[in-house]
Amino acid sequence: MALSNDPNWWRQATIYQIYPRSFADSNGDGLGDLKGVTSRVDYLASLSIDGVWLSPFYPSELADGGYDVADYRNVDPKLGTLADFDEMLAALHDRGIRVFVDIVPNHSSDQHEWFQAALAAAPGSPERDRYIFRDGKGENGELPPSDWPSHFGPSSWTRVTEADGKPGQWYLHLFAPEQPDWNWDNEEVREDFLTTLRFWADRGVDGFRVDVAHALTKDMSEPLPSIKSFDIERQGYQSLRTLFDRDEVHEIYKTWRKVFNEYNPPRVAVAEAWTITERRPLYASPDELGQAFNFDLLGAPWKSKKFKEIIDFNLQLSAQSGSSSTWVLSNHDVVRHASRYGLPKGTNFEHWIITDGEMPRLDVQRGIARAKAATMLLLALPGSTYIYQGEELGLHEVADLPGQVLQDPIWLRDGMTRKGRDGCRVPLPWTRTGSSFGFGSNGAHLPQPEWFGIFSVEAEDGVSGSTLELYRAALKLRRSLQTTETLTWVDSPKKTIHFVREGGWHCFTNFGKKPVAVPAGDVLLSSVPISEGMLPGNASVWLKA
Ligand code: NOJ
Repeated sequence: MALSNDPNWWRQATIYQIYPRSFADSNGDGLGDLKGVTSRVDYLASLSIDGVWLSPFYPSELADGGYDVADYRNVDPKLGTLADFDEMLAALHDRGIRVFVDIVPNHSSDQHEWFQAALAAAPGSPERDRYIFRDGKGENGELPPSDWPSHFGPSSWTRVTEADGKPGQWYLHLFAPEQPDWNWDNEEVREDFLTTLRFWADRGVDGFRVDVAHALTKDMSEPLPSIKSFDIERQGYQSLRTLFDRDEVHEIYKTWRKVFNEYNPPRVAVAEAWTITERRPLYASPDELGQAFNFDLLGAPWKSKKFKEIIDFNLQLSAQSGSSSTWVLSNHDVVRHASRYGLPKGTNFEHWIITDGEMPRLDVQRGIARAKAATMLLLALPGSTYIYQGEELGLHEVADLPGQVLQDPIWLRDGMTRKGRDGCRVPLPWTRTGSSFGFGSNGAHLPQPEWFGIFSVEAEDGVSGSTLELYRAALKLRRSLQTTETLTWVDSPKKTIHFVREGGWHCFTNFGKKPVAVPAGDVLLSSVPISEGMLPGNASVWLKA
């Protein structure tokens, strides 16, 4: 299937997120790799997706699952080679699937050659200027330059040892110490990222997912203000603007857009920008990244009113920027949505995981039913949808990973009080049984629970009523049903939502427990069987009327 040159192909696309280390392992080392992705192209094509987004596969010490990049223009030898990348890209393109790569511009790995050069160089040197080094406070510089926390633990400053063996300057890392922040006031840094964008775009990459897009530029003028928390609710948006969502960051994306537009069709991008929603359209504007993730459903309870409010608000926001909205229920950073929807109202998910999934109890089936209904709802919305690997199998979070296998830096840096995100990153089950459930021939880098086999591709393939077959049917149908980027709400009973797209494509979702009458029209697809004209609770139906 040839890829079109339509510059708007992304506006209503479905993009499948691959977390490469946990997708498929071709060489039996327990770690997923690029050849593993290539070996599963038929499967990906069977989903009728428009593209895949690969989380980082670059050389990395894996201090943060690959988001600590040691070389932006290469493949981690543990995952393959550039030739493997080209082969994977060609195989995906051959099947009509576009490819997004992840760009991590806020920080590198401490193993990056420029950070190593900065460590070896003297304070005040051009090498140090590529990162954010400062003298410490206190009589001998023994105190960090400010009280800023990091996303993964107590402080965002780490002190280095200078060439003379003495404790020296401190460097900034908003995430783990192995992830030093770049200095975006430095011209060489800016240029180098343009080189990286061109490097991947020249290879044929179609788009970029931009990590922590709101954090690149910082106000480092003295005196550095006190910031006790990175939580917008607690700290307040304005006082976080020293570090996040500064106006200057948009100049950077304007230069990136020029690079994207050097290609035909123009390369596309989607921003991961955690800021107040009102600012999201800036990142998504057509002269910048073009799209920004809408994460509002990640934290939303299973409530019709809330969903409707979020949908309305985000359709307005995207119209404001001239972009299209992005709908996301899961990714590699959050508890899988089948589990979120299967836990009692108000559950604190971190608490649930720290009890190894004991408290409160998860209702596995209810979670899956709601997850299926939510997916059908999302896929009927105008805009693009991002699907996270494994959600098409109805996979639940692995909440009982033992402390000793955890890889997320959150676990150790937060004093073992939060287990972090490994539970949604456990390698995919491809077969019912066998070594690592078909993920590879020799184990998996995170242990898979026994129940994974029931959720395997093999167990669901061709099985009517399975989550996989529902995704396949919905994704295929959506292609033929997608129309203009608008919807019209239709009045509906309490605890339900109902909208229609141009051409008479209706979506009706029952968020309640009790069955409700299916609206008039021919049923195209439903997340559960409909009996006697009634749609059960926690279900969605598509109709043509
Ligand atoms: C967002 C990524 O999604 C997450 O996995 C990572 O830990 C941080 N950015 C830091 O790069």
